[in-house]
Amino acid sequence: MDAFRIIGGNKLQGTVTISGAKNAALPIMVATLLTSGKSVLRNVPNLRDVATMSKMLRLLGAQVTFEKNVLTVDTSKVNKWEAPYELVKTMRASVYVLGPLLARFGQARVSLPGGCAWGPRPVDLHIKGMQKLGAEVDVEHGYIVARAKRLKGAHIYFDISSVGATGNIMMAATLARGTTRIENAAREPDIVALAFFLRKMGARIEGEGTDTIEIEGVDNLSPQEEEIIPDRIEAGTFMGAAAITGGEVILENCIPEHVNAFTEKLRESGVQIEEGENSMRVKTSRGLQPVHVTTAPYPGFPTDLQAQMMSLLSIAEGTSVITETIFTDRFNHAPELQRLGADITVDENVAVITGVEKLSGAPVMATDIRASAALVLAGLVAEGETTISRVYHIDRGYERIEEKLSSLGANIERMREA
Ligand code: UD1
Repeated sequence: MDAFRIIGGNKLQGTVTISGAKNAALPIMVATLLTSGKSVLRNVPNLRDVATMSKMLRLLGAQVTFEKNVLTVDTSKVNKWEAPYELVKTMRASVYVLGPLLARFGQARVSLPGGCAWGPRPVDLHIKGMQKLGAEVDVEHGYIVARAKRLKGAHIYFDISSVGATGNIMMAATLARGTTRIENAAREPDIVALAFFLRKMGARIEGEGTDTIEIEGVDNLSPQEEEIIPDRIEAGTFMGAAAITGGEVILENCIPEHVNAFTEKLRESGVQIEEGENSMRVKTSRGLQPVHVTTAPYPGFPTDLQAQMMSLLSIAEGTSVITETIFTDRFNHAPELQRLGADITVDENVAVITGVEKLSGAPVMATDIRASAALVLAGLVAEGETTISRVYHIDRGYERIEEKLSSLGANIERMREA
Protein backbone atom coordinates (compact mmCIF):
# COMPACT_ATOMS: atom_id res chain seq x y z
CA MET A 1 0.00 0.00 0.00
CA ASP A 2 1.38 3.40 -0.99
CA ALA A 3 2.08 6.12 1.54
CA PHE A 4 2.79 9.86 1.33
CA ARG A 5 5.78 11.51 2.95
CA ILE A 6 5.30 15.22 3.55
CA ILE A 7 7.77 17.70 4.98
CA GLY A 8 5.66 20.57 6.25
CA GLY A 9 6.31 24.27 6.20
CA ASN A 10 6.24 25.34 2.54
CA LYS A 11 3.76 28.05 1.58
CA LEU A 12 1.89 26.97 -1.53
CA GLN A 13 2.22 29.31 -4.49
CA GLY A 14 1.03 29.03 -8.07
CA THR A 15 -1.82 27.79 -10.20
CA VAL A 16 -3.65 24.48 -10.05
CA THR A 17 -6.26 23.08 -12.44
CA ILE A 18 -9.25 21.39 -10.86
CA SER A 19 -10.26 18.02 -12.29
CA GLY A 20 -13.71 16.71 -13.18
CA ALA A 21 -16.06 15.92 -10.30
CA LYS A 22 -16.02 12.35 -9.04
CA ASN A 23 -19.53 12.60 -7.64
CA ALA A 24 -20.90 13.90 -10.94
CA ALA A 25 -18.94 11.44 -13.11
CA LEU A 26 -20.09 8.30 -11.26
CA PRO A 27 -23.88 8.68 -11.71
CA ILE A 28 -23.44 9.96 -15.28
CA MET A 29 -21.38 6.86 -16.11
CA VAL A 30 -24.22 4.76 -14.73
CA ALA A 31 -26.90 6.75 -16.58
CA THR A 32 -25.48 5.41 -19.86
CA LEU A 33 -27.08 2.09 -18.87
CA LEU A 34 -30.50 3.63 -19.55
CA THR A 35 -29.94 3.31 -23.28
CA SER A 36 -28.19 1.16 -25.86
CA GLY A 37 -25.16 2.59 -27.67
CA LYS A 38 -21.99 4.57 -27.16
CA SER A 39 -21.78 7.61 -24.89
CA VAL A 40 -18.66 9.77 -24.61
CA LEU A 41 -17.79 11.53 -21.35
CA ARG A 42 -15.04 14.16 -21.21
CA ASN A 43 -13.13 15.68 -18.29
CA VAL A 44 -13.58 12.42 -16.35
CA PRO A 45 -11.07 12.34 -13.48
CA ASN A 46 -8.59 9.46 -13.44
CA LEU A 47 -9.50 8.00 -10.07
CA ARG A 48 -9.84 4.63 -8.43
CA ASP A 49 -13.60 5.13 -8.05
CA VAL A 50 -13.90 5.77 -11.80
CA ALA A 51 -11.91 2.57 -12.44
CA THR A 52 -14.19 0.70 -10.03
CA MET A 53 -17.31 2.02 -11.77
CA SER A 54 -15.80 1.10 -15.16
CA LYS A 55 -15.26 -2.43 -13.84
CA MET A 56 -18.87 -2.49 -12.66
CA LEU A 57 -20.14 -1.45 -16.10
CA ARG A 58 -17.92 -4.04 -17.80
CA LEU A 59 -19.27 -6.76 -15.50
CA LEU A 60 -22.74 -5.86 -16.71
CA GLY A 61 -21.59 -6.34 -20.31
CA ALA A 62 -20.74 -2.76 -21.32
CA GLN A 63 -17.57 -1.89 -23.21
CA VAL A 64 -15.62 0.88 -21.53
CA THR A 65 -12.49 2.71 -22.67
CA PHE A 66 -10.66 5.45 -20.81
CA GLU A 67 -7.92 7.58 -22.24
CA LYS A 68 -6.76 11.10 -21.40
CA ASN A 69 -9.83 11.80 -19.27
CA VAL A 70 -12.23 10.73 -22.02
CA LEU A 71 -14.39 7.77 -21.10
CA THR A 72 -16.54 5.95 -23.61
CA VAL A 73 -19.23 3.51 -22.59
CA ASP A 74 -20.95 1.29 -25.11
CA THR A 75 -23.99 -0.25 -23.48
CA SER A 76 -25.35 -2.15 -26.48
CA LYS A 77 -24.23 -5.53 -25.14
CA VAL A 78 -25.32 -5.16 -21.53
CA ASN A 79 -26.73 -8.55 -20.55
CA LYS A 80 -26.30 -8.80 -16.76
CA TRP A 81 -28.16 -7.10 -13.96
CA GLU A 82 -26.08 -7.84 -10.90
CA ALA A 83 -23.83 -5.58 -8.83
CA PRO A 84 -21.75 -7.96 -6.69
CA TYR A 85 -20.76 -7.42 -3.06
CA GLU A 86 -17.03 -7.35 -3.94
CA LEU A 87 -17.53 -4.13 -5.88
CA VAL A 88 -20.32 -2.46 -3.92
CA LYS A 89 -18.45 -2.83 -0.63
CA THR A 90 -15.46 -0.92 -2.07
CA MET A 91 -17.61 1.86 -3.51
CA ARG A 92 -21.13 2.61 -2.30
CA ALA A 93 -21.91 4.63 -5.42
CA SER A 94 -22.26 1.27 -7.24
CA VAL A 95 -25.81 1.26 -5.80
CA TYR A 96 -26.59 3.80 -8.54
CA VAL A 97 -26.94 0.90 -11.02
CA LEU A 98 -30.19 -0.17 -9.31
CA GLY A 99 -32.42 2.48 -10.91
CA PRO A 100 -31.14 2.29 -14.51
CA LEU A 101 -31.05 -1.53 -14.61
CA LEU A 102 -34.56 -1.77 -13.21
CA ALA A 103 -35.88 0.87 -15.60
CA ARG A 104 -34.30 -0.57 -18.75
CA PHE A 105 -34.30 -4.31 -18.10
CA GLY A 106 -37.04 -4.72 -15.51
CA GLN A 107 -34.71 -6.36 -13.04
CA ALA A 108 -31.68 -5.72 -10.85
CA ARG A 109 -29.77 -7.55 -8.14
CA VAL A 110 -27.57 -5.17 -6.19
CA SER A 111 -25.57 -5.98 -3.08
CA LEU A 112 -26.30 -4.03 0.06
CA PRO A 113 -23.24 -1.86 0.65
CA GLY A 114 -22.91 -2.40 4.37
CA GLY A 115 -21.36 0.20 6.64
CA CYS A 116 -18.39 2.39 5.98
CA ALA A 117 -15.50 3.72 8.01
CA TRP A 118 -17.72 6.23 9.79
CA GLY A 119 -20.75 4.10 10.58
CA PRO A 120 -23.86 2.66 8.96
CA ARG A 121 -25.02 4.18 5.68
CA PRO A 122 -28.45 2.82 4.86
CA VAL A 123 -30.02 2.58 1.39
CA ASP A 124 -33.62 2.39 2.58
CA LEU A 125 -34.61 5.54 0.66
CA HIS A 126 -33.40 3.98 -2.60
CA ILE A 127 -35.44 0.84 -1.90
CA LYS A 128 -38.60 2.68 -0.82
CA GLY A 129 -38.36 4.92 -3.86
CA MET A 130 -38.17 1.97 -6.25
CA GLN A 131 -41.15 0.38 -4.48
CA LYS A 132 -43.10 3.59 -4.94
CA LEU A 133 -42.30 3.40 -8.64
CA GLY A 134 -44.03 0.02 -8.64
CA ALA A 135 -41.05 -2.33 -8.33
CA GLU A 136 -41.22 -5.48 -6.27
CA VAL A 137 -38.21 -5.33 -3.99
CA ASP A 138 -36.90 -8.03 -1.67
CA VAL A 139 -33.77 -8.05 0.38
CA GLU A 140 -32.33 -11.55 0.38
CA HIS A 141 -28.88 -12.96 1.12
CA GLY A 142 -27.45 -9.45 1.42
CA TYR A 143 -28.80 -8.37 -1.95
CA ILE A 144 -31.53 -5.99 -3.08
CA VAL A 145 -33.53 -7.95 -5.63
CA ALA A 146 -35.87 -5.73 -7.63
CA ARG A 147 -38.28 -6.49 -10.45
CA ALA A 148 -40.82 -4.49 -12.43
CA LYS A 149 -42.47 -4.89 -15.82
CA ARG A 150 -42.47 -1.16 -16.40
CA LEU A 151 -42.01 1.36 -13.64
CA LYS A 152 -44.87 3.78 -12.98
CA GLY A 153 -44.50 7.45 -12.12
CA ALA A 154 -45.14 8.26 -8.45
CA HIS A 155 -45.04 10.98 -5.83
CA ILE A 156 -41.98 10.43 -3.65
CA TYR A 157 -41.15 12.38 -0.52
CA PHE A 158 -37.75 11.87 1.10
CA ASP A 159 -37.64 12.60 4.80
CA ILE A 160 -33.86 13.02 4.53
CA SER A 161 -32.17 14.83 1.67
CA SER A 162 -30.14 12.11 -0.08
CA VAL A 163 -27.90 12.66 -3.09
CA GLY A 164 -27.75 8.96 -3.98
CA ALA A 165 -31.48 8.26 -3.60
CA THR A 166 -32.43 11.39 -5.56
CA GLY A 167 -30.10 10.41 -8.43
CA ASN A 168 -31.19 6.79 -8.41
CA ILE A 169 -34.92 7.59 -8.47
CA MET A 170 -34.43 10.33 -11.06
CA MET A 171 -32.69 7.85 -13.38
CA ALA A 172 -35.31 5.15 -12.84
CA ALA A 173 -38.18 7.59 -13.41
CA THR A 174 -36.89 8.72 -16.82
CA LEU A 175 -38.23 5.51 -18.40
CA ALA A 176 -41.29 5.04 -16.17
CA ARG A 177 -44.84 5.43 -17.44
CA GLY A 178 -46.23 8.78 -16.24
CA THR A 179 -44.89 11.55 -14.04
CA THR A 180 -42.72 11.27 -10.95
CA ARG A 181 -42.41 14.05 -8.43
CA ILE A 182 -39.53 13.93 -5.94
CA GLU A 183 -39.95 16.18 -2.93
CA ASN A 184 -37.14 17.15 -0.58
CA ALA A 185 -34.82 16.21 -3.43
CA ALA A 186 -31.08 16.77 -3.08
CA ARG A 187 -29.93 20.03 -4.68
CA GLU A 188 -26.24 19.19 -5.07
CA PRO A 189 -24.52 20.29 -8.31
CA ASP A 190 -23.90 16.58 -9.03
CA ILE A 191 -27.67 16.04 -9.23
CA VAL A 192 -28.06 19.08 -11.47
CA ALA A 193 -25.29 17.73 -13.74
CA LEU A 194 -26.98 14.33 -13.87
CA ALA A 195 -30.31 15.95 -14.80
CA PHE A 196 -28.59 17.88 -17.61
CA PHE A 197 -27.10 14.68 -19.02
CA LEU A 198 -30.39 12.79 -18.75
CA ARG A 199 -32.18 15.63 -20.52
CA LYS A 200 -29.59 15.49 -23.32
CA MET A 201 -30.39 11.79 -23.58
CA GLY A 202 -34.04 12.70 -24.11
CA ALA A 203 -35.42 12.60 -20.58
CA ARG A 204 -38.04 15.12 -19.49
CA ILE A 205 -36.93 16.59 -16.20
CA GLU A 206 -37.71 19.88 -14.48
CA GLY A 207 -36.76 21.44 -11.18
CA GLU A 208 -33.23 20.09 -10.68
CA GLY A 209 -31.34 22.32 -8.28
CA THR A 210 -34.55 22.92 -6.28
CA ASP A 211 -36.08 20.58 -3.72
CA THR A 212 -38.82 19.43 -6.08
CA ILE A 213 -37.90 17.53 -9.23
CA GLU A 214 -40.46 16.37 -11.78
CA ILE A 215 -39.74 13.67 -14.31
CA GLU A 216 -42.12 12.74 -17.07
CA GLY A 217 -41.26 9.25 -18.27
CA VAL A 218 -40.37 8.66 -21.93
CA ASP A 219 -40.14 5.41 -23.93
CA ASN A 220 -36.50 5.67 -25.02
CA LEU A 221 -33.32 7.55 -24.35
CA SER A 222 -30.29 7.93 -26.61
CA PRO A 223 -26.51 7.84 -25.97
CA GLN A 224 -24.85 11.25 -25.66
CA GLU A 225 -21.66 13.19 -25.14
CA GLU A 226 -21.04 15.14 -21.95
CA GLU A 227 -18.37 17.15 -20.20
CA ILE A 228 -18.08 16.49 -16.47
CA ILE A 229 -18.31 19.59 -14.23
CA PRO A 230 -15.34 20.61 -12.05
CA ASP A 231 -14.95 18.93 -8.66
CA ARG A 232 -16.07 21.35 -5.94
CA ILE A 233 -14.63 19.17 -3.18
CA GLU A 234 -11.22 19.03 -4.84
CA ALA A 235 -11.45 22.81 -5.29
CA GLY A 236 -12.28 23.26 -1.60
CA THR A 237 -9.39 20.99 -0.63
CA PHE A 238 -6.89 23.11 -2.61
CA MET A 239 -8.41 26.29 -1.17
CA GLY A 240 -7.79 24.73 2.24
CA ALA A 241 -4.20 23.84 1.26
CA ALA A 242 -3.51 27.44 0.25
CA ALA A 243 -5.12 28.76 3.43
CA ILE A 244 -3.45 26.42 5.92
CA THR A 245 0.04 27.05 4.53
CA GLY A 246 -0.40 30.83 4.37
CA GLY A 247 0.17 30.72 0.63
CA GLU A 248 -1.41 32.18 -2.47
CA VAL A 249 -2.96 29.84 -5.00
CA ILE A 250 -5.03 30.34 -8.13
CA LEU A 251 -7.54 27.59 -8.91
CA GLU A 252 -8.49 27.20 -12.54
CA ASN A 253 -11.43 25.29 -14.00
CA CYS A 254 -13.64 25.61 -10.95
CA ILE A 255 -17.15 26.95 -10.35
CA PRO A 256 -16.87 29.42 -7.43
CA GLU A 257 -20.61 29.30 -6.74
CA HIS A 258 -20.39 25.57 -5.97
CA VAL A 259 -18.10 26.22 -2.99
CA ASN A 260 -19.93 29.28 -1.62
CA ALA A 261 -20.54 27.87 1.84
CA PHE A 262 -16.87 26.90 2.22
CA THR A 263 -15.67 30.23 0.80
CA GLU A 264 -17.80 32.14 3.32
CA LYS A 265 -16.35 30.19 6.25
CA LEU A 266 -12.79 30.70 5.00
CA ARG A 267 -13.43 34.42 4.64
CA GLU A 268 -14.84 34.51 8.18
CA SER A 269 -11.59 32.87 9.22
CA GLY A 270 -9.56 35.64 7.58
CA VAL A 271 -8.68 34.07 4.22
CA GLN A 272 -8.80 36.42 1.22
CA ILE A 273 -10.67 34.95 -1.72
CA GLU A 274 -11.25 36.55 -5.12
CA GLU A 275 -13.70 34.90 -7.45
CA GLY A 276 -13.41 34.95 -11.25
CA GLU A 277 -15.82 33.33 -13.66
CA ASN A 278 -14.12 29.93 -13.61
CA SER A 279 -11.27 30.63 -11.26
CA MET A 280 -10.46 31.66 -7.71
CA ARG A 281 -7.51 33.24 -5.99
CA VAL A 282 -6.97 32.20 -2.38
CA LYS A 283 -4.52 34.00 -0.15
CA THR A 284 -3.76 34.06 3.55
CA SER A 285 -1.53 36.66 5.05
CA ARG A 286 -2.38 36.47 8.75
CA GLY A 287 -3.32 33.86 11.34
CA LEU A 288 -6.57 31.93 10.83
CA GLN A 289 -9.46 32.91 13.08
CA PRO A 290 -11.73 30.33 14.74
CA VAL A 291 -15.16 29.75 13.18
CA HIS A 292 -18.20 27.59 13.88
CA VAL A 293 -19.30 25.21 11.15
CA THR A 294 -22.39 23.04 10.76
CA THR A 295 -22.57 20.65 7.83
CA ALA A 296 -25.80 20.59 5.83
CA PRO A 297 -27.09 19.45 2.43
CA TYR A 298 -26.18 21.75 -0.50
CA PRO A 299 -26.07 24.75 -0.53
CA GLY A 300 -24.99 24.30 3.10
CA PHE A 301 -21.47 23.50 4.25
CA PRO A 302 -20.54 20.14 2.67
CA THR A 303 -19.75 17.18 4.89
CA ASP A 304 -17.07 16.31 2.32
CA LEU A 305 -15.09 19.41 3.36
CA GLN A 306 -15.63 19.03 7.11
CA ALA A 307 -12.42 17.08 7.74
CA GLN A 308 -10.29 19.54 5.76
CA MET A 309 -11.88 22.44 7.69
CA MET A 310 -10.96 20.71 10.94
CA SER A 311 -7.30 20.68 9.91
CA LEU A 312 -7.41 24.41 9.26
CA LEU A 313 -9.15 25.16 12.54
CA SER A 314 -6.64 23.09 14.46
CA ILE A 315 -4.14 25.94 14.01
CA ALA A 316 -6.64 28.82 14.30
CA GLU A 317 -6.19 31.46 16.99
CA GLY A 318 -9.00 30.31 19.30
CA THR A 319 -11.70 27.70 19.74
CA SER A 320 -13.99 26.49 16.96
CA VAL A 321 -16.94 24.12 16.95
CA ILE A 322 -17.83 21.76 14.11
CA THR A 323 -21.25 20.11 14.13
CA GLU A 324 -21.69 17.22 11.70
CA THR A 325 -25.34 16.68 10.77
CA ILE A 326 -25.04 14.48 7.65
CA PHE A 327 -22.92 11.55 8.84
CA THR A 328 -22.92 11.96 12.58
CA ASP A 329 -19.94 9.61 13.20
CA ARG A 330 -17.71 11.17 10.58
CA PHE A 331 -14.80 12.16 12.82
CA ASN A 332 -12.22 9.46 12.06
CA HIS A 333 -9.71 12.14 11.21
CA ALA A 334 -9.88 13.70 14.70
CA PRO A 335 -7.65 11.13 16.48
CA GLU A 336 -5.19 11.21 13.59
CA LEU A 337 -5.02 15.01 13.76
CA GLN A 338 -4.43 14.66 17.49
CA ARG A 339 -1.36 12.57 16.66
CA LEU A 340 -0.09 15.66 14.85
CA GLY A 341 -0.65 17.76 17.97
CA ALA A 342 -4.17 19.10 17.36
CA ASP A 343 -6.38 19.78 20.38
CA ILE A 344 -9.79 18.28 19.52
CA THR A 345 -12.53 16.82 21.66
CA VAL A 346 -15.42 14.98 20.11
CA ASP A 347 -18.78 14.49 21.78
CA GLU A 348 -21.32 12.67 19.62
CA ASN A 349 -21.59 14.76 16.44
CA VAL A 350 -19.85 17.84 17.80
CA ALA A 351 -16.12 18.50 17.69
CA VAL A 352 -14.49 21.29 19.65
CA ILE A 353 -11.17 22.39 18.22
CA THR A 354 -8.86 24.58 20.22
CA GLY A 355 -6.25 26.00 17.94
CA VAL A 356 -2.60 25.20 18.73
CA GLU A 357 0.40 27.25 17.67
CA LYS A 358 1.84 24.53 15.53
CA LEU A 359 1.33 20.92 14.49
CA SER A 360 4.22 18.47 14.52
CA GLY A 361 4.81 15.76 11.92
CA ALA A 362 4.05 12.14 12.80
CA PRO A 363 3.01 8.87 11.15
CA VAL A 364 -0.76 8.82 10.59
CA MET A 365 -3.24 6.65 8.76
CA ALA A 366 -5.78 7.59 6.09
CA THR A 367 -9.22 6.16 6.84
CA ASP A 368 -11.44 7.53 4.06
CA ILE A 369 -11.16 9.90 1.12
CA ARG A 370 -11.77 13.20 2.86
CA ALA A 371 -10.11 12.27 6.15
CA SER A 372 -6.98 11.54 4.11
CA ALA A 373 -7.19 14.92 2.43
CA ALA A 374 -7.43 16.54 5.87
CA LEU A 375 -4.26 14.73 6.95
CA VAL A 376 -2.45 15.92 3.83
CA LEU A 377 -3.42 19.53 4.65
CA ALA A 378 -2.25 19.11 8.23
CA GLY A 379 1.00 17.50 7.03
CA LEU A 380 1.67 20.49 4.76
CA VAL A 381 1.87 22.79 7.76
CA ALA A 382 3.17 20.41 10.44
CA GLU A 383 6.76 20.82 11.53
CA GLY A 384 8.99 18.04 10.20
CA GLU A 385 7.93 14.82 8.53
CA THR A 386 4.43 13.36 8.32
CA THR A 387 3.87 9.99 6.71
CA ILE A 388 0.33 9.08 5.71
CA SER A 389 -0.25 5.39 5.16
CA ARG A 390 -3.11 3.78 3.21
CA VAL A 391 -3.32 6.56 0.64
CA TYR A 392 -5.40 4.29 -1.59
CA HIS A 393 -8.28 6.11 0.09
CA ILE A 394 -7.10 9.41 -1.34
CA ASP A 395 -6.58 7.84 -4.77
CA ARG A 396 -10.31 7.02 -4.79
CA GLY A 397 -11.19 10.68 -5.01
CA TYR A 398 -8.22 12.90 -5.89
CA GLU A 399 -6.46 12.92 -9.25
CA ARG A 400 -2.63 13.12 -8.89
CA ILE A 401 -2.94 15.11 -5.67
CA GLU A 402 0.76 14.78 -4.83
CA GLU A 403 1.78 16.04 -8.29
CA LYS A 404 -0.59 18.98 -8.08
CA LEU A 405 0.64 19.89 -4.59
CA SER A 406 4.30 19.51 -5.61
CA SER A 407 3.75 21.87 -8.52
CA LEU A 408 2.57 24.43 -5.96
CA GLY A 409 5.77 23.99 -3.98
CA ALA A 410 4.75 21.38 -1.42
CA ASN A 411 7.33 18.86 -0.28
CA ILE A 412 5.32 15.67 -0.77
CA GLU A 413 6.24 12.36 -2.30
CA ARG A 414 4.57 9.03 -2.84
CA MET A 415 6.36 6.05 -1.40
CA ARG A 416 5.35 3.04 -3.45
CA GLU A 417 5.09 -0.29 -1.80
CA ALA A 418 5.83 -3.35 -3.84
C1 UD1 B 1 -23.08 11.40 -1.51
C2 UD1 B 1 -21.65 11.63 -1.92
C3 UD1 B 1 -20.75 11.73 -0.69
C4 UD1 B 1 -21.29 12.79 0.28
C5 UD1 B 1 -22.77 12.56 0.58
C6 UD1 B 1 -23.39 13.68 1.40
C7 UD1 B 1 -21.52 10.53 -4.06
C8 UD1 B 1 -21.00 9.39 -4.86
N1 UD1 B 1 -21.22 10.53 -2.75
O1 UD1 B 1 -23.13 10.15 -0.83
O2 UD1 B 1 -19.43 12.09 -1.11
O3 UD1 B 1 -20.57 12.73 1.49
O4 UD1 B 1 -23.52 12.46 -0.66
O5 UD1 B 1 -23.26 14.89 0.74
O6 UD1 B 1 -22.16 11.42 -4.57
N2 UD1 B 1 -29.51 8.10 3.97
C9 UD1 B 1 -30.48 7.28 4.50
N3 UD1 B 1 -31.07 6.35 3.68
C10 UD1 B 1 -30.72 6.24 2.37
C11 UD1 B 1 -29.74 7.09 1.83
C12 UD1 B 1 -29.14 8.02 2.68
O7 UD1 B 1 -30.82 7.37 5.69
O8 UD1 B 1 -31.29 5.37 1.69
C13 UD1 B 1 -28.87 9.13 4.83
C14 UD1 B 1 -27.37 8.92 5.01
O9 UD1 B 1 -27.08 7.99 6.01
C15 UD1 B 1 -26.92 10.33 5.35
C16 UD1 B 1 -27.87 11.20 4.50
O10 UD1 B 1 -28.96 10.37 4.18
O11 UD1 B 1 -27.15 10.61 6.70
C17 UD1 B 1 -27.24 11.74 3.23
O12 UD1 B 1 -26.65 10.67 2.49
P1 UD1 B 1 -26.60 10.67 0.91
O13 UD1 B 1 -26.82 12.06 0.41
O14 UD1 B 1 -27.49 9.60 0.39
O15 UD1 B 1 -25.10 10.25 0.64
P2 UD1 B 1 -24.56 9.45 -0.61
O16 UD1 B 1 -25.40 9.68 -1.80
O17 UD1 B 1 -24.26 8.05 -0.20
